[in-house]
Amino acid sequence: MEKGIFVTGIDTGVGKTVIAGAIAAAIKAHGLDVGVMKPVATGAREIDGKLVSEDVVYLKKIIDSTDDDDLVNPIRLKPASAPTIAASKTGVLIDMENVWKAYKELADKHDFVVVEGIGGLMAPVDNTILVADMALKMDLALVIVSKYYLGAINHTLLTLEYARSRNLRIKGIIFNMLRNGEDFVAEIGRLSSSPVLGTIPFDENVCVEKCLYGDIVELFRKEINISKIMRKET
Ligand SMILES: Nc1ncnc2c1ncn2[C@@H]1O[C@H](COP(=O)(O)OP(=O)(O)OP(=O)(O)O)[C@@H](O)[C@H]1O
Ligand SMILES: [Mg+2]
Repeated sequence: MEKGIFVTGIDTGVGKTVIAGAIAAAIKAHGLDVGVMKPVATGAREIDGKLVSEDVVYLKKIIDSTDDDDLVNPIRLKPASAPTIAASKTGVLIDMENVWKAYKELADKHDFVVVEGIGGLMAPVDNTILVADMALKMDLALVIVSKYYLGAINHTLLTLEYARSRNLRIKGIIFNMLRNGEDFVAEIGRLSSSPVLGTIPFDENVCVEKCLYGDIVELFRKEINISKIMRKET
């Protein structure tokens, strides 16, 4: 079995948090002890003097995680920008050692860890590390979340090409928030050989910002074979 999965996306706002949460909940329903992680979050809000990421609140709540925020989300920054820019704006030094330590602790503690990246694979996390390097260092395969919008074929194919060029393992693509996107899915199938794990429809009752789950876990479990995500391919 895989030790975890790294959820990335073709862009920001495509549903990484929603899909990462659904994967974690589906794995929990499978009877495993699962942990979640958002190593680096930007756009965090200040609540009672502490910075809190909406993504982290959503991911923890969907599996009733009691893990400490410092473990789940060791790096949180206030500006809603790429991590390197948010860090330089606020004079914060991003120490990746904290990320590696926290990931190891979560991996030791849980059967499976679902990690949400930030932005896409080439988003810069510190001056030398891109999101892709984080996935490589954690030795996790990728679930790539894609969404249908003008430009999404290009973004999806570029993400797949870059993942391959970095020798990242690709578990598969999940098409999220799909409404009338059959042509889009067919084009990706025609132009790439990467596996498609499934499609998730738009669910109007889902909202990360309000921590609302709607029917996302049921939809996910109906559409996606969770065993494929958990199984380690040789
Ligand atoms: N299947 C869905 N149905 C309805 N709304 C969705 C669905 N998936 C995601 N959303 C909504 O789309 C928005 C973006 O989703 P989400 O926050 O998961 O994206 P993200 O890729 O994690 O974004 P970020 O880059 O900010 O971390 C949120 O408001 C979320 O509630
Ligand atoms: Mg997110």
